[in-house]
Amino acid sequence: MKRILVTGGLGYIGSHTVVELQEAGYEVSIIDNLSNSSIDVLDGITRISNKRPHFKQLDLRDKKGLSDYFEVHQNIDGVIHFAASKAVGESVEKPLFYYENNITSLIYLLQNCTKHNIDHFIFSSSCTVYGEPDRLPITEEAPVKLAISPYGNTKQISEEIIQDLCKISDIRSIALRYFNPIGAHPTSEIGELPLGIPQNLVPFITQTAAGVREQLSVFGDDYNTPDGSCIRDYIHVVDLAKAHVVALKRIIDKKEMVSFEIFNIGTGQGNSVLEVVHAFEKVTGQKINYKIVNRRPGDVTSVYADTKKANSELHWKAELTLEEALLSAWKWEQKIRNNN
Ligand code: NAD
Ligand code: WQD
Repeated sequence: MKRILVTGGLGYIGSHTVVELQEAGYEVSIIDNLSNSSIDVLDGITRISNKRPHFKQLDLRDKKGLSDYFEVHQNIDGVIHFAASKAVGESVEKPLFYYENNITSLIYLLQNCTKHNIDHFIFSSSCTVYGEPDRLPITEEAPVKLAISPYGNTKQISEEIIQDLCKISDIRSIALRYFNPIGAHPTSEIGELPLGIPQNLVPFITQTAAGVREQLSVFGDDYNTPDGSCIRDYIHVVDLAKAHVVALKRIIDKKEMVSFEIFNIGTGQGNSVLEVVHAFEKVTGQKINYKIVNRRPGDVTSVYADTKKANSELHWKAELTLEEALLSAWKWEQKIRNNN
């Protein structure tokens, strides 16, 4: 049985991926420093899978601690690297922290992979690397645009670091460029836990419906889209988690032709902000108090994935609908409100 190290495995996407890995028969070890997650997530994972993953609280920037970890745990067959800081706005305020956390962690991790001959590596990248795309839907061949934020730049730099290492080592890697992950596990045992005021649309909607926020601000209705609000590709986090399992299998089975590959992971469908709000209202029966406000600086008009490469080469396809994702997000919101 293969053992996979999942960094950031108690975070939003990491925790859902841990569950899918366990269901696919992998043993899982998690490293997380709990900077943006809670230890309770480990219980949530265990309740779903009836299997407690091995967990170590560790900061990946702790070079000695990480090296010791790999000396002790010699049984790792592959790494899925989620751990990173991800708030775009915060990255503009604290660029050095973002470069330190996201880049230093990656380098230390790869140094240990190289040292211990761990040559399967999956990386969490982002559609943010495409910036304002020239063509829709966005294929993997679309040019990477100059990053607007330090966060986005860390994803571009990270992809380059991994690609350079793949050229001169046995490491085989896949970078998955996620579009907009939303929703929660159908059991409501795990989900997104935004700290403070949510920056992302769906947690803001669910908190508004729950009465935690008074009003949702819709950032602009004067974009060049059918209803004037921005368009994104919202993907259910469970579908996204499953993409990691198939990507991992692909590199373990050595099915890929090149040592570094990139895949878009989205649904292929674009939805506007107002469509998401109305779909949420319809599927949950909750009315959302919203108002149209000015555009948010840095937002691009329209972003959605061409998923043909993932469909044909990973044999993966998003299966869950926007409505299912929004309903799961609402159930999760209700569950965390009832527990607090
Ligand atoms: P998250 O914040 O929920 O999870 C990240 C986890 O990593 C957290 O549990 C945090 O405590 C941990 N972590 C951060 N720095 C660490 C360090 N130095 N050492 C150890 N642990 C550390 O974020 P998420 O939404 O699950 O995102 C996971 C990955 O996917 C990130 O790399 C993120 O940039 C990327 N991504 C996220 C989105 C999104 O919209 N959520 C979109 C595209 C890409
Ligand atoms: C979606 C749409 C907003 C909040 C971000 C990162 C990106 C990636 C995914 C990590 C936009 C609108 C939002 C609100 C609103 N993360 N909105 N009112 O900006 O597409 O992508 O998360 O890699 O890098 O930038 O996601 O959820 O913030 O916004 O109207 O209160 O909802 O303007 O059009 P975004 P989001």
